[in-house]
Amino acid sequence: MKVSVKTPATIANLGPGFDSFGLALPLYNVVSVEETVLPGSGIEINIINEKNNEKSELADVPTDKTNIVYKAIELLYNFIGQVPNELKITIKTQIPISRGLGSSSSVIVGGLIAANELLGRPADEKVLMSIATEIEGHPDNITPAFVGGITMSSWEDDGSVVYRKLPWNDDWKLMVCIPDYELNTEISRSVLPKEVPMSSAIHNLKRSAMFVDALYSKDEELLKLALKDKLHQPYREKLVPGLSDIINNLKHINGVIGTVLCGAGPAILVIYNGIGVGEIKEVVSNSWNYFNVETNFLNLPIEKQGAVIL
Ligand code: HSE
Repeated sequence: MKVSVKTPATIANLGPGFDSFGLALPLYNVVSVEETVLPGSGIEINIINEKNNEKSELADVPTDKTNIVYKAIELLYNFIGQVPNELKITIKTQIPISRGLGSSSSVIVGGLIAANELLGRPADEKVLMSIATEIEGHPDNITPAFVGGITMSSWEDDGSVVYRKLPWNDDWKLMVCIPDYELNTEISRSVLPKEVPMSSAIHNLKRSAMFVDALYSKDEELLKLALKDKLHQPYREKLVPGLSDIINNLKHINGVIGTVLCGAGPAILVIYNGIGVGEIKEVVSNSWNYFNVETNFLNLPIEKQGAVIL
């Protein structure tokens, strides 16, 4: 038996909600898991890049037991007191890796749901989310990859994930600006301080509250105020040259509501109200061209659906 699961890309943080807010995008990875019939054939992992022009970006992804999809599936087997013996895992990727678009969460969630189906569904959503978050280290990409839409999540001390889906005003559009270089999440987290000034914590606390209220009340002016951050973006500027210039320059473009780093970067998300597309692209391209960085622009809606079994 073989089970395949399609899981969306995600963008985490969304400005003030570091390690908490996230949204899903209509770009997908598909993970297939099958129990091979030949005893002793072991674990086989194949990774297929469906964007043929960028084969090289997957060259460093491990295909042994250190692969994150395998590690997540192993935890699920352990949860039911077993260990995986003969498994074939196939990962088909469309989501660019190391850009802040949740490619790792997408395959972790896909692999777990597929393996859970294969095992006869021993784990419920709560257990699967908890295992996925343990592997990923934070729940902000995991939750929207699982359930779609826009979410707030919290990884609680007991290992469980508490989440809620938030509403989205479809008049607000997303422009995802993807630079042509990779930024490893571990490196991007390593530049963050262990402690932050109280004023920065208060700044983000207020803005997270504004963010949630702006979504419920569809208040564009409040969202403009909310999409600011002092906990991670300022520290990551050195890894994403041009970030603060882009954020500041886009503020003056008619139609722009706010600009944030996608997860750990380096992609940037511009939330706008439907006008000013040409100017947004011009500002981002000009800033990144200065650093010899090419930009791929994707104008996408939020993916309302999460992971689906094919
Ligand atoms: N919240 C995470 C971070 C998302 O910003 O490091 C990246 O996986």
